[in-house]
Amino acid sequence: MVNLDKYSSIFIANWKLNGNSSFLKDYYEKLKVNSNNCTIICSPSIYLKSLKGNNENLFCGAQDVSSYKEGAYTGELSASMLKDNNIDFCLVGHSERRQYFAETNDNVNIKSSNLIEENIIPVICIGETLEQKEKNLTEEILSTQIKYSVPNLANHQNALIAYEPVWAIGTGLTASPEQAQEMHKFIRQKFTEKFSESISSNLSIIYGGSVKPSSAKNIFNQPDVDGGLIGGASLNANDFSDIINSI
Ligand code: PGA
Repeated sequence: MVNLDKYSSIFIANWKLNGNSSFLKDYYEKLKVNSNNCTIICSPSIYLKSLKGNNENLFCGAQDVSSYKEGAYTGELSASMLKDNNIDFCLVGHSERRQYFAETNDNVNIKSSNLIEENIIPVICIGETLEQKEKNLTEEILSTQIKYSVPNLANHQNALIAYEPVWAIGTGLTASPEQAQEMHKFIRQKFTEKFSESISSNLSIIYGGSVKPSSAKNIFNQPDVDGGLIGGASLNANDFSDIINSI
């Protein structure tokens, strides 16, 4: 398993359903990784094997994994198959998976457990929708997601949490640095209640939602924000490099 303690921040590119072989080649020529930070590229799974460069601080992550370990499940990829292909990280419970593919907190919990058992670090995504935010349900939603999505075997060394307010994903709206800090602090407090102070204080909680090079520094300088999960801006290698190197 990757030793997260080595890094001061963690940055993840979530390419979603984008990219092809020539995009990939061009991207890696332009990408500038910072050795203080752990950088992870989550490409579509079919490209994962061709991604691994020779930079020791650059890793591959899948965008999803099956909740099944093996069997008659057409189209699925298991955690052990990802491990077999040297994949070190995997997004789990991204809001687009929850919204378009009916992924539940229970699915996220099972997938995360299967990944941890294979020594792959799950990046467990949580966050509230605009409607939930407007009804002042943010804390309740986050508490429920933490309670049910995060498996009991998770800790600061084998799992990452990504706070992604759904209203900020791909919308151009970003949480203010103060809003992000407040929610990350709340999430940390919930981890203290569910696990322990030593796990919560060392847990990496990263922020995602319309982060751009211009907004990166202020968000990632917040004390409880340990890096970012970047969608749209990660499709441009120069922009993503600027974000990685913003702190
Ligand atoms: P965005 O996506 O940066 O385009 O808002 C973030 C994500 O979906 O992980």
